[in-house]
Amino acid sequence: MIDLKDVAAKAISSSINGVSYETVYDLLEFPPDAKLGDVSLPCFKLSKTMRKAPPVIAGEILSRLGDNNEFFDKTEAVGGYLNFFISRDKFAESVLDDAINNENYGGSDVGKGKTVVLDYSSPNIAKPFHIGHLPSTVIGNSLYRIYGYMGYKAIGVNHLGDWGTQFGTMIVAYKRWGNKAEVEKGGVKELVRLYVKFHQEEEKEPSLRDEARYWFSELEKGNEEARKLWSWFKSVSLEEFKRVYNILGVEFDYYTGESFYNDKMGAVVDELREKGLLVKSEGADIVDLSAYDMPPCIIRKADGSTLYATRDLAAAFYRKKTFDFDKCIYLTASQQNLHFKQWFKVVELMGYDWAKNLVHAPFGMISLSSGESMSTRHGVTVWLDDVLSQAAAKTLEIIKEKNPDMENMESVARQMGTGAVIFGALSTSRIKDVAFSWDDVLNFDGETGPYVQYTHARACSILRKADTSPEFKKITSDAEYRVVRQLYEFPDKVKLAMETNEPSAVTRYIIDLAQEFNRFYHDCPINSAEDDVKKTRLAITLAAKKVLCKGLWLIGLTAPERV
Ligand code: ARG
Repeated sequence: MIDLKDVAAKAISSSINGVSYETVYDLLEFPPDAKLGDVSLPCFKLSKTMRKAPPVIAGEILSRLGDNNEFFDKTEAVGGYLNFFISRDKFAESVLDDAINNENYGGSDVGKGKTVVLDYSSPNIAKPFHIGHLPSTVIGNSLYRIYGYMGYKAIGVNHLGDWGTQFGTMIVAYKRWGNKAEVEKGGVKELVRLYVKFHQEEEKEPSLRDEARYWFSELEKGNEEARKLWSWFKSVSLEEFKRVYNILGVEFDYYTGESFYNDKMGAVVDELREKGLLVKSEGADIVDLSAYDMPPCIIRKADGSTLYATRDLAAAFYRKKTFDFDKCIYLTASQQNLHFKQWFKVVELMGYDWAKNLVHAPFGMISLSSGESMSTRHGVTVWLDDVLSQAAAKTLEIIKEKNPDMENMESVARQMGTGAVIFGALSTSRIKDVAFSWDDVLNFDGETGPYVQYTHARACSILRKADTSPEFKKITSDAEYRVVRQLYEFPDKVKLAMETNEPSAVTRYIIDLAQEFNRFYHDCPINSAEDDVKKTRLAITLAAKKVLCKGLWLIGLTAPERV
């Protein structure tokens, strides 16, 4: 596909002396407004080396462009900028051809031969899978697809919280107040009820805490009864998690939780000791990080038990050895910033230069805005599962109103409701807090998942009803051209999303594309147009449909053909 910066940089660098193609390429910008051209050279930085005022430079280059200018219909020097207007037909032909015929449009092979490990979702066993787990789950899943699309070998890992003192608590709670049938019936919700019950009862009966500690140490020693209960709690929880992942369309290559590293931590502790990094402090083994303005990283408590950080260290070594990753990315809330900074530092102090390839991509809080039916009032957990069901139910109501004869209404409502929730979580940059409001995420006309899905289905319907085939002939209006221009930006946005670990770059892009497409649909009649115009408009529609579908897929949404 044509590269606007490339053709402009070639034209410019062969028109002036002493400024290289690369310098020009890097200076070129895409103007925010189409009136300022398709690509533009700001001459401000050049004015230092060339010792001339920017408008003078722009004017001089313009006067010398001559025949170097074949791709552009028009070139203007305006206030220190040199603005290029591409020949619309040549440009559109090239962009549409790529967007329609290249199955990998927007992707690339920059990641070829490289591996990225993504650690996402990672809920805790026997605890609620709640709305707070949504960002990690959907950001991780989207990055998994984006990296894969950019040629990387992406490996998705669910670092389940399946080890720790809470299992002592669970065992005691179950033995006291639980029974098999109830857990089988109620699943994680019943496990959580028992967990909460324990904490209520321990207020009255503090010795319960010792009992829980006892049972956790039994579990660590391999006591058969304890192991059996633990592994049962785990399978009950996993069944529930997998059901939710299924609804969300989220996948993992490995479910290697914290317990997987039980037999792998000893080696890390030994190595830390050999390297002289372990220090005794009040009986515990720690790595002193005061030189780096951080509290110590605790490796082993005084009673010998290991911690979250110890397991993360062991997991990083295991992953490096097993997958030889080029990058390992962790998606968690920003509350864990310090935890990651600490143990990343420990890896660095151990002398491994791949410590720099460990990346923590944090995100802000997510909540449902108050006053709505799903508020967290009374400290009640907002189960992710309930949010998804409610989204589907609300979408079904909207569909029944808008399109009462639709086939597969229930399934479409599920897809759109789930899409709305995922899209809502991915529409702002990671670090911003997201307050969910049903009116916002389900608005079919707003900047939402349903809006983009709806636009995609509209494009499908246009193509179904067409009486001729899509084929580029000529651009005859601004609205057509603007869709093409938008399509052209897709590869840049996917790349940006990958480089910044921000799926929101793709989310925002598909909103813009959908809006541009809807403007085009509104301004440009298709079926009544003369044949060449009709064919061109169908080609634009087909290209937009494909890119919307791919964009939705990259952020983890489906693209139903009819809604
Ligand atoms: N289980 C943790 C939690 O719910 C998240 C784990 C993130 N991954 C990691 N390797 N530490 O907060």
